[in-house]
Amino acid sequence: MRLLNLLSKTELTVSDLTHILGQSQPRVSRHLKLLTEAGLITRFREGAWVFYKLVRPPKTNGPGDPDQSSRDYLSPSLAAALVDLIPQNDITVLRDLDRLEAVKQRRAAVAAAYFAENADEWSRIRSLYVSEADVEAAIRELLENEKFGFLLDIGTGTGRILEVLSDRFDEGVGIDLSHEMLGIARANIERVGLPNTYVRFADLYALPFENDSVDLVTIHHVLHFLEEPANAISEAARVLKPGGKILIADFAPHDVEFLRDEHAHRRLGFDDKEIAGWFEDCGLQSAKTCHLMADAENLDTEQNLTVTLWLGCRETSTVRRLPLEQAS
Ligand SMILES: C[S@@+](CC[C@H](N)C(=O)[O-])C[C@H]1O[C@@H](n2cnc3c(N)ncnc32)[C@H](O)[C@@H]1O
Repeated sequence: MRLLNLLSKTELTVSDLTHILGQSQPRVSRHLKLLTEAGLITRFREGAWVFYKLVRPPKTNGPGDPDQSSRDYLSPSLAAALVDLIPQNDITVLRDLDRLEAVKQRRAAVAAAYFAENADEWSRIRSLYVSEADVEAAIRELLENEKFGFLLDIGTGTGRILEVLSDRFDEGVGIDLSHEMLGIARANIERVGLPNTYVRFADLYALPFENDSVDLVTIHHVLHFLEEPANAISEAARVLKPGGKILIADFAPHDVEFLRDEHAHRRLGFDDKEIAGWFEDCGLQSAKTCHLMADAENLDTEQNLTVTLWLGCRETSTVRRLPLEQAS
């Protein structure tokens, strides 16, 4: 019951749970195995780490949690009913929750240290373009007041886009290949208390989602890192529902070479035609484009970056996939 209670609050590893409960790892693992077999909790792997969480009802109208089988509709209600029976003012439960809070704070501290280490570099890059707040406001404006069932944020990093659009979706998932970033995103999601929002370790070239399952895909400042941006867009198009939308934010073409040398940017921006071509190749219609330029007064004209937002919409006919050699 203590395990169920903790896993109803957040996703935790065996090592988190061992620490919180003050019990041996084999013992905790054994109970987790039994609870998993009973269908009350579910586990998912993220690299070398395995996380556990309480099962929850699958969505009827989206892909739901990719790690959870939708076969069982009974267990989620049973799990929720059991958690409801746990007195939250019980002394043992209160102590567990205190220790859980300490685990969360430790995660947040790791996140803060990571940011502190990289802060100088990020402000240097940010100073070259229009403020993040302006970009985020423009993203919200471009999407008008539309509400989306299922949002997938590709290359979610710290999960910022999930936070910015949190009132625009019923369920939101961010995927990323960096454990450090996912750790920070998880801490942010918990800090802000975003409902129905989670992050997963996954490769954007092989998304763990069914065809036609996502209402909105966002790809914010990710494409310029990629070897094969066209393939990333085509994989995103695959998971979009007919009529679903894709929003890409990235730099317009530029020649700020230090981004390539010092920040692993593969591409120095993208022009509208290139993105429109990739959209067309995989059955996406270009809907809107918006260019955001840095303030003239802050501008070092040699080194300024325009951020472009491209909004596309999946046509209602089937997505055409690019042969790999053509896409790259
Ligand atoms: C500059 S960050 C942008 C993060 C976030 N979208 C934002 O704007 O704050 C780029 C992210 O893309 C992720 N990424 C790069 N290649 C990826 C891949 N193949 N699959 C998934 N994520 C990837 C990186 O780990 C990184 O977190």
